[in-house]
Amino acid sequence: MASMRAAYDDVAVVYHQTFDPEGARPRDPILEDLVGNVQGQQVLTLACGQGRDARWLADLGADVVGVDISERLLAYARQLEQVSPRAIRYVQGDAQDLAAFESASFDGVVCHMALMDIPGLAPTVGAVARVLRPGGYFVLSVVHPCYRPHVDAVDDYLADGPYEKVDGPDWLPPHAYHRSLSTYVNALSSAGMSIAKMVEPSDEPPAGRGVPNLLYLRCIAATA
Ligand SMILES: C[S@@+](CC[C@H](N)C(=O)[O-])C[C@H]1O[C@@H](n2cnc3c(N)ncnc32)[C@H](O)[C@@H]1O
Repeated sequence: MASMRAAYDDVAVVYHQTFDPEGARPRDPILEDLVGNVQGQQVLTLACGQGRDARWLADLGADVVGVDISERLLAYARQLEQVSPRAIRYVQGDAQDLAAFESASFDGVVCHMALMDIPGLAPTVGAVARVLRPGGYFVLSVVHPCYRPHVDAVDDYLADGPYEKVDGPDWLPPHAYHRSLSTYVNALSSAGMSIAKMVEPSDEPPAGRGVPNLLYLRCIAATA
């Protein structure tokens, strides 16, 4: 998709400084549980950014490839790979076609906090299904579709489409893509994936209202 603009290129410096200046990654027990034992597996980190999850997975013993559309975020990932080599290969590419990768070439795909930044959900999920081996897993997390921070008005939950991020921190690119929960589930199902586990973390009262802010899924590719 030649027309894809790498929105994160525009915010790469501040995004990197905000989230990963030292190449360290806070623990995410939900993601860790959903991914499980990756020792010896070939894992693709989809929309890997500056490689936080790629390094985490490599440290767990996986053979990792990271793909992202933003050359500027990948430059940070490659810098860190030079400083602390983990044999991670970083590839610039579009999640919507994953053209650089052979079919059935990965045991797992991990996509942390990125699907809502990618315009085409069905092509992305289809590309993930293509590169997964039969029975392989797709672990993903997104901003929960029922909870959209930085949106200036309550709008139609069932109306999928781009939305402007307002009053957001300066590391945010200007827009993202809303999809209802059913859109996510049906796209995964149409690509032949079944949902093995779903987690909706939230801040419980009194700290929060118990409304989930993130959505995590572990999906399994069809076996035939
Ligand atoms: C919020 S960041 C998350 C990065 C990383 N997964 C993490 O958790 O640190 C979203 C990422 O999606 C990437 N992205 C957006 N559109 C993409 C596309 N079409 N193909 C590949 N990556 C894309 C951005 O460049 C950015 O690195």
